[in-house]
Amino acid sequence: MRHLMSPLDFSVAELDELLNLADDIEKNPPKYAHACDGKKLATCFYEPSTRTRLSFEAAMLNLGGSVLGFSSADSSSAAKGESVSDTIRVISCYADICAMRHPKEGAPLVAAEKSGIPVINAGDGGHQHPTQTLTDLLTIRSLTGSLGDMTIGLCGDLKFGRTVHSLIDALIRYPNIRFVLISPEELRIPSYIREDILRANQIPFEEVERLEDAMPELDILYMTRVQRERFFNEEDYVRLKDFYILTKDKMKLAKENMLVLHPLPRVNEISVEVDSDPRAAYFRQAQYGVYVRMALILTLLEITVSE
Ligand code: NCD
Repeated sequence: MRHLMSPLDFSVAELDELLNLADDIEKNPPKYAHACDGKKLATCFYEPSTRTRLSFEAAMLNLGGSVLGFSSADSSSAAKGESVSDTIRVISCYADICAMRHPKEGAPLVAAEKSGIPVINAGDGGHQHPTQTLTDLLTIRSLTGSLGDMTIGLCGDLKFGRTVHSLIDALIRYPNIRFVLISPEELRIPSYIREDILRANQIPFEEVERLEDAMPELDILYMTRVQRERFFNEEDYVRLKDFYILTKDKMKLAKENMLVLHPLPRVNEISVEVDSDPRAAYFRQAQYGVYVRMALILTLLEITVSE
């Protein structure tokens, strides 16, 4: 049985296969409409979510399956003190596959060890968010035609932003990738990523504070929200929350074909006036999240659909 905890759980060849499947799903939805008839997805969300939970549910419904679950710790037995290990043992009796989000780093991994069904990490604290990364890879590949040869700017909360951590893990395996890490001093990328992932693999990167300086060289700009819920005090959050605001004026500095991605939700970091710019791809990105989660559910349940 296979789980998904980090993007590294799939080889590049397996990722290619998964993205090809997502492509086919996008082109031929009816072909997959009954692929998961009789199967159930449990969504166990101990932290707020809109896109991840609902796109998982939409994905399973599009495949003909059903969904059950909870959307906050308060409405589950976690509120009575139940451990994730016990919860997953029980969920394994009710469902065929589980997507789990938890505020504690590593909680989905602990669950996977006791689970009778595949567990998907749908975000664990400030650590990893592999299905957002699958979404990001599919978006980049679909809109640019490839996953190599690019300079990608990651901007905002690089310290607590789990989407950024997973995306770096995944992208370093493609050829000729360069990162520009754009953040205020306090929200710089954690040192284990700078040293053990980027430097150890000799991946070119630079760390800058001003978005304007980085803008002209970027092929992709990946904006992120300052992760309020992971701050120790509100004062620091208030000071940093509006550090970056992408505006129409700043977009004038960018390449004509640069893409702006954002895992969403956005707070203030992208001005709504940018939404109508053809380079703004974040709402298309949310749509790709459904196709890629359909492909992931099929892959982990080992269901193949023939012509
Ligand atoms: C992200 C997350 O939960 O980490 N959201 C998402 O799943 N699309 C990003 C965020 O919350 O800022």
